[in-house]
Amino acid sequence: MNIQEIIETKRDKHKLSKQQIEYFVKNYTSGDITDYQASALIMAIYINGMDEEEITNLTLAMANSGDILDLSELGTVVDKHSTGGIGDKVTLILAPIIASLGIPVAKMSGRGLGYTGGTADKLESIPGYKVEVEEKEFIENVKKIGISLITQTSNLAPADKKIYALRDSINCVESIPLIASSIMSKKIASGANKIVLDVTCGSGAFMKTLEDAKKLAETMEKIGKLANRETIAVITDMNEPLGKTVGNTLEVIESIEALNGKMKKDVEEVVLLLGSNMMKLAGLGENIEENKNRIKENIRNGKALEKFRELVINQGGDISYIDNIEKFPKAKYIIPLVAEKSGVIESLDAEEVGKISVFLGAGRIKKEDDIQKEVGLVFEKKVGDNVNIGDILAYIHGNNEEKTKEAVEELKKIYEIR
Ligand code: URA
Repeated sequence: MNIQEIIETKRDKHKLSKQQIEYFVKNYTSGDITDYQASALIMAIYINGMDEEEITNLTLAMANSGDILDLSELGTVVDKHSTGGIGDKVTLILAPIIASLGIPVAKMSGRGLGYTGGTADKLESIPGYKVEVEEKEFIENVKKIGISLITQTSNLAPADKKIYALRDSINCVESIPLIASSIMSKKIASGANKIVLDVTCGSGAFMKTLEDAKKLAETMEKIGKLANRETIAVITDMNEPLGKTVGNTLEVIESIEALNGKMKKDVEEVVLLLGSNMMKLAGLGENIEENKNRIKENIRNGKALEKFRELVINQGGDISYIDNIEKFPKAKYIIPLVAEKSGVIESLDAEEVGKISVFLGAGRIKKEDDIQKEVGLVFEKKVGDNVNIGDILAYIHGNNEEKTKEAVEELKKIYEIR
């Protein structure tokens, strides 16, 4: 077998065999297949697609390219993953809720790339919080307090890391077989036996249409089933940013407030939908509405917030910030955007908001870019709200005065008021 034959197979719209897929993944990960050869194959897959069997074989080959975590000593572990969005702080809120209900949470999260943020970066906005943790300590943490949130360990699905970086550089990210295999390989390697997937749909998501989102959701559910991991995928809206804030520290503060009982409606909807399905998979109850009530109860009685405090302490974070959010460092400039006309907000394009947050320094374009934790946006008004001239629509938090002012002008163009 050689890579030229494999490229030819997919270029000519034929099905790749399991052996061909395994050969490609193994030899590209080891460096024996070059980037230009892999680019040709990835582009052929992007254009000609893959059937279910090919996607499953690609997923398993990528999952097996590194360590497969064994979490069996923790019992039933339900993982949660989002296909990405703007202002998506759901893991920060949901993970402690789930752990407070007695379901072990052992979750590895990514860093932000492009316009979408990453949970690992957000957690690092809590002074002292350690996200780089060895597998053994990770499992010990879950055994001790029922929860650990860390970043992906270096040997988790290394084939995906390489292929994802290549896809990014040759503009081949938005492909259902490639996204499904990328996400599911990491989920399978990180050891959970049950998985709830949040497939975001809209301008700030990879899937722009409901039809594509459904296709991606179905594909990942099928891979989960074939890989013996019970999987539920739900579709959520990502046409406008989720919640009140975008930016690392700002989203952590919003999450603490949410656990204190002040959760924005749109965030609550996603938290309840995903959480109730996680409870169902964990065997805590088939009735989704009852599950939602139990989640609300653990927010009301403070158990979820207490679990978040335990998590922060256990990972070396400074708990005084959680107990007093005023302590978090603030950006140098906080400039309001004021409404220049009255009416109803018709749209607030999530992707455009994501671009502004990256422009301010909250996200990274390249993997090695530094981020500024305290910068971002706080929305006072969102889609559907009535506004009057002079109302504050949002605040822009930036560290550079010129950039902050420029961001205000850009955001003004994004708010559509009719
Ligand atoms: N998230 C991933 O992990 N992989 C993709 O391909 C897209 C989103």
